[in-house]
Amino acid sequence: MRQGFYRVESVREIAGNIHLLSLHAPQIASAVRAGQFLNIKTRDMYLPLLRRPFSVYNRNGDSLEIIFNVVGLGTRILASGPSREPLDVIGPLGNAFGTGGDFEEAVLVAGGLGIAPMPMLTAELKRAGKKIHTYIGARNGSQIVREHMENVSVATDDGSAGSRGTVVDLLRTHLGNSSMTRPKIFSCGPTPMLRALAALADEAGIPCELSLESPMACGIGICQGCPVEVKDGPRKYALVCRDGTVFDGKRVVL
Ligand SMILES: Cc1cc2nc3c(=O)[nH]c(=O)nc-3n(C[C@H](O)[C@H](O)[C@H](O)COP(=O)(O)OP(=O)(O)OC[C@H]3O[C@@H](n4cnc5c(N)ncnc54)[C@H](O)[C@@H]3O)c2cc1C
Ligand code: FES
Repeated sequence: MRQGFYRVESVREIAGNIHLLSLHAPQIASAVRAGQFLNIKTRDMYLPLLRRPFSVYNRNGDSLEIIFNVVGLGTRILASGPSREPLDVIGPLGNAFGTGGDFEEAVLVAGGLGIAPMPMLTAELKRAGKKIHTYIGARNGSQIVREHMENVSVATDDGSAGSRGTVVDLLRTHLGNSSMTRPKIFSCGPTPMLRALAALADEAGIPCELSLESPMACGIGICQGCPVEVKDGPRKYALVCRDGTVFDGKRVVL
C-alpha cells in the first residue's frame, strides 16, 4: 500500500451514468490484485473532506481504471474530467479474491456497480486456467457493462435486457438446469443481493467469496468505521477495509 499523486488520463461515460476514469499509477498497477480498492481524495480542497473508495476495475499497463456512478460531490468532481492537479490516491487497499485453489469453474455474480472488480478478476481467473461464468444484474439494460468479461448472462429489474428479475434468481435457475464441475462463486454488489447469494451458495454447497461495501473513512483499519459482524475469530467484528473487502460468505453476518 502506498500514497501517491497520480495523473488522470481520461474520464468518459461508458453506460447510463457510469463513468470510467483512467489513472496513470504505475506503482499501484504493478501491485494490485482483483478485489482491491483505491482510496481517493477527489480534490485538493477542504471539501470533500474524506477520501472516497473505489474498486480497481481494470489494469492497462501502467494505468488503472475505476468505474463509478455520480451520486454526490466526490463522484461529481471525478466525472467533470481530468484536472491539471494529480489525484491523491492510497492503494492498493484491502485483500483480494482467492483465484487459486481447488475449484474448476468460477461463477462471477455482480449487482449494479458490483461489476467494478470483475474485469480484473476475469483476467486473473483466465491466467489460472479456470472456466468462467458471469452473471450481471442491473436496474435496466442501459446500466449493463460487459467489457472484459466472459460468458455473460444478464438479469434486469425491468426486463429490458436479459431475463426479468434478480441476478440471484437467474443463477438459481441456471444451477438447477445445468451441472458445474467444482464451482466457486465470487460476488460484489448490494448487501441484500449478497445475503440472498450467500444463502443460495450455502443451499447448493458451493464455496462463495463476497466483496462487501461499507461506508469508509480511513480505508486502512484505523478509524474503526467499517465493522462487519463475523461468526468466527477472536473478535465479533471484522473491518471491511482491512480484513476484507473480500470475505468467505459463510463467515460474515449480512
Ligand atoms: C470498498 C469500496 C469500493 C467501492 N467501489 C466503488 C466503485 O467501484 N464504483 C462506485 O461507483 N462506487 C464504489 N463505492 C462507493 C463509493 O465509494 C461511493 O459511491 C462514493 O464514495 C460516493 O462519493 P460522493 O462524494 O460522490 O457521494 P457522497 O456525497 O459521499 O454520498 C452521496 C450519497 O451516496 C451514499 N453513499 C456514499 N458512499 C456509499 C457507499 N459506500 N455505499 C452506499 N451508499 C453510499 C451516501 O449515503 C449519500 O446518500 C465503493 C465503496 C467501497 C466501500
Ligand atoms: S474505514 Fe477506517 S477502519 Fe475501515
